[in-house]
Amino acid sequence: MNILVVFYSMTGNTAALARAIAKGAQEEGAAVRLRQVKELMPESAVQSRPEIRRTKEALKDVPFATNDDLIWADGVAFGSPTRYGNMSSQLKQFIDGTGKLWMEGSLVGKVASVFTSTATQHGGQESTLLSMMAPLFHLGYVVMGLPYAEQLQMSMDDIHGGSPYGVSSVSGPESNRAATETDLELARAVGRRLAKLAAKVAEKPAADQVA
Ligand SMILES: Cc1cc2nc3c(=O)[nH]c(=O)nc-3n(C[C@H](O)[C@H](O)[C@H](O)COP(=O)(O)O)c2cc1C
Repeated sequence: MNILVVFYSMTGNTAALARAIAKGAQEEGAAVRLRQVKELMPESAVQSRPEIRRTKEALKDVPFATNDDLIWADGVAFGSPTRYGNMSSQLKQFIDGTGKLWMEGSLVGKVASVFTSTATQHGGQESTLLSMMAPLFHLGYVVMGLPYAEQLQMSMDDIHGGSPYGVSSVSGPESNRAATETDLELARAVGRRLAKLAAKVAEKPAADQVA
């Protein structure tokens, strides 16, 4: 199976989840592409904050996603930090560039999952994840959640992300609280599930007639 993990990250938290999802998919034997999307902030804004500069440096070897990556992938995890309860403009712009693929139906029947990071516990993870799903339905993706069979998400031992809508993390008011081991294990679980489900869906093309 071919799995694409595509994300935007300004201060590294979404990127950490992306790497864990990629690892989980690899554990399941998938070929994995880890890709970031293009920055839209002016370079002066990037340079104005050390934590953004550090993130850009850490991501400098991660290629930028293209529509060909979407065509290549049997399953995709889309990740974005939360921006006022919604996805970032950077990831949205990448998704908005898929018009040709939408018209051709090239992505129909592929599997997708979504993930996010917020600063605060109740800062809109679920609204972000649910709204990220809407364009994916338009493109024909089979959207995969994170079932409670992954029981770690029920843990009350620490402040962590993860919900039936997808993987997430809580980075705190300074955006510098690292994803917890719970967040990362749930992310690896999503990577494994994405690879497994993509394999099942690819195996069974829809019958063209009802028996
Ligand atoms: C313009 C803007 C809007 C944001 N909106 C929210 C929000 O609605 N809720 C929240 O909890 N955090 C919000 N944040 C914080 C980020 O979502 C949070 O720091 C996240 O962990 C960053 O992920 P990253 O490190 O991958 O860039 C916002 C940050 C910015 C810059």
